[in-house]
Amino acid sequence: MTRHTDFRAGLGWDTHRLVHGRPLLLAGVRIESEMGLDGHSDADVLAHAVTDALLGAAAQGDIGMHFPDTDPRWKGADSLMLLHHVVQLVHLTGFDIINVDATVILERPKLKEYRLPIRESLARTLGIGLDCVSVKFKTAERVGPVGEGKSAEAQAIAMLGKRAE
Ligand code: C5P
Ligand code: MG
Repeated sequence: MTRHTDFRAGLGWDTHRLVHGRPLLLAGVRIESEMGLDGHSDADVLAHAVTDALLGAAAQGDIGMHFPDTDPRWKGADSLMLLHHVVQLVHLTGFDIINVDATVILERPKLKEYRLPIRESLARTLGIGLDCVSVKFKTAERVGPVGEGKSAEAQAIAMLGKRAE
């Protein structure tokens, strides 16, 4: 088992508006839903929060710094590809990803049936074991823009460890 020294935690958060006529993607998994997330990229709110958690832990700025939403290259971008790019950046800095934990806050639909495919997709993209990836779901109890079904939010935390020499 790889030994790690120097541990770093990073926090990520994201939000996107819910609109008709767009797919709802969470960590690249297509969720059956009347409404989807709006944004310049594919608006994968969970992938974006996890990406920012990794960048935060590595002190490498944020997602908008690496993939500006004014850049036509990232229009409709596959957010798992952006996440994969950041995973490679983390490795270049000498860190391994130890674990990721995330929460998606969405009023509807219910997401718990999608927990395993979402965890599997994240684990594959992060290159870590399924047991190191956790995803939780919450409603906003019908309060605020998320509670009124106008938007979705995601929060994530990532732990990195530097490979011991
Ligand atoms: O928000 P609340 O505490 O009522 O959520 C209860 C449970 O419902 C959560 O722990 C989660 O398992 C599930 N849930 C879900 N999909 C959502 C929101 C909540 O599966 N969009
Ligand atoms: Mg986003």
